Amino acid sequence: MKAMPTVRARRIVPAGDAALAQAKAALAAGQVVAIPTETVYGLAADATDGEAVARIFESKHRPSFNPLICHVSDIAMAETFADFDPLSRRLAEAFWPGALTLVLPLKPGHAIHPLVTAGLDTVAVRAPKGFGADLIAALGRPLAAPSANRSGRLSPTTARAVDDSLGDAVPLIVDGGPTQVGLESTIVMVADGKARLLRPGGIAAEAIEAVTGVPLARADANAAIRAPGMLASHYAPNARMRLNAGSVAPDEALLGFGPQRIAGADKAKAVLVLSRTGDLAEAAANLFDHMARLDASGARCIAVEPIPAHGLGEAINDRLARAAAPRETS
Ligand code: TXA
Ligand code: MG
Repeated sequence: MKAMPTVRARRIVPAGDAALAQAKAALAAGQVVAIPTETVYGLAADATDGEAVARIFESKHRPSFNPLICHVSDIAMAETFADFDPLSRRLAEAFWPGALTLVLPLKPGHAIHPLVTAGLDTVAVRAPKGFGADLIAALGRPLAAPSANRSGRLSPTTARAVDDSLGDAVPLIVDGGPTQVGLESTIVMVADGKARLLRPGGIAAEAIEAVTGVPLARADANAAIRAPGMLASHYAPNARMRLNAGSVAPDEALLGFGPQRIAGADKAKAVLVLSRTGDLAEAAANLFDHMARLDASGARCIAVEPIPAHGLGEAINDRLARAAAPRETS
């Protein structure tokens, strides 16, 4: 018998009540959804759900785990996981909802998954306008969302551009028409009471200076801040890291992957397995947590079993290689 043609659910849905309900259900089920914001389209997932966040990187074919922006409905939601200094609060009050992202310290006990922040102790936060804001309020949880393009491509400003860039990797795209701003948000971080521009974007530096009353320091003055993936404050374990290990010594901790353990695992100082079934999304979701816990075991070295190089494995290996790199160069 000939197979029936499969009827695919419509992937691009116009912004509105039906799309809101569909997007909310998908996000609550741990899926990614492409949504319009006033800057560019974002590829969103529940920021408290590690496997969902891992799917963002997977869908974008992102070869490394860059920290993502956490989108909130308002300042009150941001305050559940981040601390506002007085100047950051003034900026949020002036520009939210809108194209300003603030980098803030995380609160102890916060629920943001470490994959969102790439293990940093700060988080980038903004309150978007429009459909995104309604969706976050309906879900009641923050959404992690980078621009909804395949890694290395242009940020999309239409639903069609998202579709062209990400193809079938995204089960649901909400179409809110062309984005108003068309440029990513401006990223600002306040340190020692001074605002610093980390990324120019949809809100002009002059508009920010009009609120702060002083010139905005440029990240160019400090190259380390321009590339957050390279920040010294990026989580690096105290223990040495030994990648692609074929065996583990009794004074080492073991970071495992897959169903089989390498020789010596039964005598290792501590053992945690990223995914026993070899699921790379589960492994990505566990990566930062497991590295931190093995480090806390006090082992002098963390031996890491080989991780496949395909799919999310590329980003996992990238992160492990950074953690294993000599510290002086961070
Ligand atoms: O307009 C936008 O900002 C769009 C929409 C979807 O909201 N989003 C966006 O996200 O452009 P993405 O992932 O493409 O860019 C996020 C930027 C990256 O440059 C990242 O390094 C920076 O935010 N970032 C995230 N967390 C950070 C942190 N804790 N410290 C410094 N920079 C951070
Ligand atoms: Mg981007």
